[in-house]
Amino acid sequence: MRRKVAAGNWKMNGLKASIAELKALKASTAGANCDIIICPPATLIAAMAAVSGDIIIGGQDCHWNETGAHTGDTSAEMLKDAGAGAVILGHSERRADHGETDAEVNKKTLAAWRAGLQAIVCVGETEAQRDAGETLDVIGGQLDGSTPDATTAANTIVAYEPVWAIGTGRTPTLEEVAEVHDYLRAKLVTRFGDEIGNGIRLLYGGSVKPGNAVEIFAVSNVDGGLVGGASLKATDFSGIVSAAES
Ligand code: PGA
Repeated sequence: MRRKVAAGNWKMNGLKASIAELKALKASTAGANCDIIICPPATLIAAMAAVSGDIIIGGQDCHWNETGAHTGDTSAEMLKDAGAGAVILGHSERRADHGETDAEVNKKTLAAWRAGLQAIVCVGETEAQRDAGETLDVIGGQLDGSTPDATTAANTIVAYEPVWAIGTGRTPTLEEVAEVHDYLRAKLVTRFGDEIGNGIRLLYGGSVKPGNAVEIFAVSNVDGGLVGGASLKATDFSGIVSAAES
């Protein structure tokens, strides 16, 4: 039985005033029967981790080195030191905006583990790739390349996020979500064995809202969601947390 996850990705949104949303979320989700992760911008990690209670605070990216001459980058150890417990890696916006490759995401995942962070590794096809019938090949290749051999259910969560569904209000059909998640599950079992492969949580991301979370989270091999826009307001995200509890 995999414990479900409601993970929020605030992206480049949030000032100190937004800590009030985290506090409201904490109050409305106390005792929730699922894991709750909020990934704010790096500037808010320390302040939010200080008041987050059972809510895990996460980063949105990290460098693979521990320290060094990498202006503007943040190491996994720095995220951990600020109070983070997790980090999103290989989000499609990082892959698109910063040219991140599977090999780099793999190195970042190793860095996250080194620092004691849980890695949330993202994969997902573009609309052109889906239209060309390449979805399973693309995400299969991303999964293989981005996850190190020592992946376990404890150190890694995988998020399937179709690029064309992110921030668009469009989602795949439930059958399409099931097809991808069943495929990812089978690949994980083949590579890591029954116990680890069946234990790794698989999140769906891309236009998850309070109104569609229940049906999406009920799909085969969907263990919760990675949520952008609808994670910014506690009132919206607490509805998604409730969906992850059922
Ligand atoms: P969205 O973003 O929920 O706003 O579509 C999801 C994500 O990018 O993680």
